[in-house]
Amino acid sequence: MAAPNPLIETLTLPYGEAAIARAAGVIDGGGCVAIPTETVYGLAADATNRDAVAGIYAAKGRPSFNPLIVHVTDRRAAEKIALFDRDARALADAFWPGPLTLVLPLRPEAEIAGIVTAGLDTVAIRVPQHRAMQALLAASGKPLAAPSANASGTISPTRAAHVAVSLHGRIPLIVDDGPTSGGIESTIVALGGNPRLLRPGPIPAEAIEREIGRWLSGGSEEIEAPGQLASHYAPTKPVRLDATERCADEWLIGFGAVTGNDTLSAAGDLIEAAAALFDALHRADDSDCAAIAVAPVPDKGIGVAINDRLRRAAHRP
Ligand code: TXA
Ligand code: MG
Repeated sequence: MAAPNPLIETLTLPYGEAAIARAAGVIDGGGCVAIPTETVYGLAADATNRDAVAGIYAAKGRPSFNPLIVHVTDRRAAEKIALFDRDARALADAFWPGPLTLVLPLRPEAEIAGIVTAGLDTVAIRVPQHRAMQALLAASGKPLAAPSANASGTISPTRAAHVAVSLHGRIPLIVDDGPTSGGIESTIVALGGNPRLLRPGPIPAEAIEREIGRWLSGGSEEIEAPGQLASHYAPTKPVRLDATERCADEWLIGFGAVTGNDTLSAAGDLIEAAAALFDALHRADDSDCAAIAVAPVPDKGIGVAINDRLRRAAHRP
């Protein structure tokens, strides 16, 4: 992907008042800023400003048919943008602020730029928990559209350094608040009609089903969450899954009893593994080995989301 010409200077500032004031200034001026959420670092812009959002797509080199998630400070702000039914309110009250995105009918009068929803009559919306994203939402006073802060199709960033490698020269500012705690993108649920799980994430399907007292169906990701391309999280090297041993020239990412060059969690803890996943894939991609192997991860709780991302990392287009 060709970088925009001329390259701009990318400044990284540690989280704090000065960084947030500067970030709010960039947002106000129609620019985009990389900022951590509890899941991954996001690339945020004013969701009401079409040109600002176009800047996100340009920096990421993202296909423009992919709609973005709108981040807001609280449910009240979300209800000005989307139509909430009983299930939506129950889920918002149970899981916000936090890593749950709801796809809901867009209020026709909402000022969200059409480019954010890719022209759909629904909107993906969430209230993030992270102090940096919350501070930027408060300081800018705008709903912020934010995909993960990485070039389209590459591994999601869980550290400021990942963002810098991927988007250096394409964005003006990165706010660095250390590694993210969650490590995997938010769970996406579509409501209205049958509730559907569009993307597994940190909040397991069972927890959502308990809250709304109904089963979730699988949803048709390809139509409803076009960002879910099969190879969405691809490292540059081939990835082999369910590996219990290292083959020649492989970098093995272990889990539990399977030890390797690196581990997602030596203790076999799935929460720890989720937080470590993308960082481990980045390290594997940067290693001297020609290929990557990953130990089996149990398919329960957040392990479902880990395996979803691993399958995408292993998929060759
Ligand atoms: O944790 C996260 O969700 C991170 C942080 C930055 O908030 N964001 C993130 O955004 O993962 P992104 O752009 O990488 O993923 C957004 C997903 C895509 O799969 C997209 O297709 C889906 O949300 N999406 C957005 N609007 C939608 C809509 N109206 N209907 C269905 N899917 C939608
Ligand atoms: Mg992404």
